[in-house]
Amino acid sequence: MGFLSVLSFAHKLAAERLKSSGIAVDATAGTGADTLILAKAAGPRGRVFAFDIQQEALELTRRRLMKEPSERLAEVSLFQDSHSNMQAHIPAEYHGKISVIMFNLGYLPSEQADKKIITSSDSTLPALEASLKLLSPGGIVTIVVYPGHEGGGQEAAAVEAWASALPQRTAQAIVYRGLQRPNAPFLIALERKKPL
Ligand SMILES: C[S@@+](CC[C@H](N)C(=O)[O-])C[C@H]1O[C@@H](n2cnc3c(N)ncnc32)[C@H](O)[C@@H]1O
Repeated sequence: MGFLSVLSFAHKLAAERLKSSGIAVDATAGTGADTLILAKAAGPRGRVFAFDIQQEALELTRRRLMKEPSERLAEVSLFQDSHSNMQAHIPAEYHGKISVIMFNLGYLPSEQADKKIITSSDSTLPALEASLKLLSPGGIVTIVVYPGHEGGGQEAAAVEAWASALPQRTAQAIVYRGLQRPNAPFLIALERKKPL
């Protein structure tokens, strides 16, 4: 049967934490797969905020959501902006109340996409800092990192170093990784402890 893939494990962690009527963030909407999973898990009384810098990604996400019966999904707000600005877009009433924030780094996995547009530690690390401020105690951040593409190794190392240096009273950090394939994607997940 094998172990869960990195993405499936991130989805499992997210689904376990995000209760019906919960609040979640997709920090890298991409094709909308994660946004949809969050919107289903939060349900019609929940809220999801999704970010991407590319118009194409938000269009793909919007189309994916529209294929689903809207009465089964959380209200989803899409923002074409960097995830490093997420705090400014998410209403203050939700700060400190978010159960799950998902990051799936790298490039937009669609045929037409410019694969040179990738996430970068310059904005990923500020976005992760912002995430810690937005999470509820017990809330989680999942970060799927891709060391295999150009620039991805540097970003993966920066995220791993940042997460490793977090005080344990702030967050617990874990990694889920295949040991025999050093360039394969891996997952870093954080669980928020006390408020900052
Ligand atoms: C691997 S894809 C995400 C995949 C997506 N979660 C899915 O389910 O299809 C990474 C996305 O991050 C986006 N991105 C790059 N820099 C960003 C930034 N600073 N803020 C938000 N999104 C960014 C890219 O445009 C790309 O669509």
